[in-house]
Amino acid sequence: MNILIIYCHPSEKSYTFQILDIMKQTFIDQNWNVEISDLYAMNFQSDMTSQEYEREGFAKTDLPISEDILTEHRKIEWADCIIFLYPVWWSDCPAKLKGWFDRVYSVGYAYGQKPDLPKMKTIKYGLAVCTAGHPNEFLEEIEIAQSMKTIMLDDRLGKRFEHKEMIILGGTTLNNEDIRHDHKIKIEALAAKIKMHFT
Ligand SMILES: Cc1cc2nc3c(=O)[nH]c(=O)nc-3n(C[C@H](O)[C@H](O)[C@H](O)COP(=O)(O)O)c2cc1C
Repeated sequence: MNILIIYCHPSEKSYTFQILDIMKQTFIDQNWNVEISDLYAMNFQSDMTSQEYEREGFAKTDLPISEDILTEHRKIEWADCIIFLYPVWWSDCPAKLKGWFDRVYSVGYAYGQKPDLPKMKTIKYGLAVCTAGHPNEFLEEIEIAQSMKTIMLDDRLGKRFEHKEMIILGGTTLNNEDIRHDHKIKIEALAAKIKMHFT
């Protein structure tokens, strides 16, 4: 199994980094191949340049695609399952990850496909795993959980993924051991969840 993790957090002191560690170990224990796009560590450029906008905005697919984007395309083509792991910042993913979608989902590849151009493969299973300060119940009550799911799963993952799910690891600011234990169980259960989609 080839697992690609698109990871977005600036600090190794973070709780999200601890979750990445548990996730990595869970997949390594399965003898799966794990590739991580660690967006901050890679210094991934999230802003679209005016040259890139020329290609995107006007669907000029004859213009070249930057090498850093082609590298991400190759990782996508390699992956059986893609996991986006990030903290919730202002009810969405951090801007750097948003920039990954802006630039990596290039026209002709992720949308607006043409017969003569490489087309993004359909990924069997996609997961958005986010840590959040607010508890899940509160995020659901104020309908932010639903809106995050709509944007991340219905739009960004969209039809490019056959099956998709969002896991919100909420309540992180409460510093509660039971909550953290529950998050660990949820991450360790991912291997079985992923396997279910490949049998
Ligand atoms: C800039 C910023 C914005 C945040 N916005 C939200 C938010 O909208 N909703 C929420 O539940 N938590 C929010 N939080 C809290 C984080 O989601 C929480 O700290 C998360 O679990 C990440 O922890 P970590 O940074 O230790 O990995 C925010 C934190 C920061 C730094």
